[in-house]
Amino acid sequence: MPYETITTQTDGAVTTITLNRPQALNALSSVVLDELIEAFAAYQNDDSQLCAILTGSGDKAFAAGADIKEMSEKEAADFYLQDFFAKWTSHIVEAVRKPWIAAVNGFALGGGCELAMMADFIIASDRAKFGQPEIKLGVAPGMGGSQRLTRAVGKAKAMEMCLTGRMMDAEEAERSGLVARVVPHDTLMDEARTTAATIAGMPPMAAMVNKEMVNAAYETFLGQGVIHERRLFQILTASEDKAEGMKAFIEKRDGQWKGR
Ligand code: CAA
Repeated sequence: MPYETITTQTDGAVTTITLNRPQALNALSSVVLDELIEAFAAYQNDDSQLCAILTGSGDKAFAAGADIKEMSEKEAADFYLQDFFAKWTSHIVEAVRKPWIAAVNGFALGGGCELAMMADFIIASDRAKFGQPEIKLGVAPGMGGSQRLTRAVGKAKAMEMCLTGRMMDAEEAERSGLVARVVPHDTLMDEARTTAATIAGMPPMAAMVNKEMVNAAYETFLGQGVIHERRLFQILTASEDKAEGMKAFIEKRDGQWKGR
């Protein structure tokens, strides 16, 4: 279906969603959010699609933040009454149970950094830059950035970045644990597609369960997380793919996945 601010493309079992407002450095307006919600729901509901990539169009930005021009028109009551930013969590994080990767091709600032951190992991171009510069606008992160950045890079760096608005380059982001891997700019999409295809080749239910487990580590205390992991592991052992995966290993062949 045609979108105004994003594009989507499928290649085998991999969906690529591209933020497509390069003239505004892919700033995240309400229209972008609505379209992303639709695109992610289509990915989640299409059984043939097993991994997604989110990236930005143009050479300069993944996304330079929530749309400042749109926000400048709103009053505090609008933000509160509309529960502004709530849908990012419910529709982009919680509703998408299948894996997705952020391929960060340039600036990931404010809401752009927060959106990238909502992905299961980030692959970054060596030109990527990450930051939470909201303080310079008289505000603060509003889509989970202060929480996810702190968990990813620790208090010292998160605090420094939020208080000064300093950007982190790709090399520092990898060293700090914010991104899984940095690749040369021109190879970013090839690397992301190869990684996504690898994930799409895994037993699909096991991929979802692995995602749920790692996310639990983010959101729970250790003891609770370990129990959650054990229960999910025990449930997975009842799957047809577990029986097939272990049999295939013993018979020295590739597994044939049923996704259940
Ligand atoms: N919202 C709306 N428009 C934006 C934008 C944003 N977040 N970021 C850039 N743009 C627009 C610019 O206004 C400009 O449009 P015009 O050509 O119509 O003037 C166009 O994109 C190109 O931007 P620049 O001319 O500024 O490009 P630059 O190369 O000189 O600078 C930049 C690049 C350093 C990323 C700079 O654009 C910038 O600082 N952008 C804002 C970054 C920011 O503050 N993000 C946080 C937003 S608040 C937020 O996200 C809240 C939250 O927590 C959820």
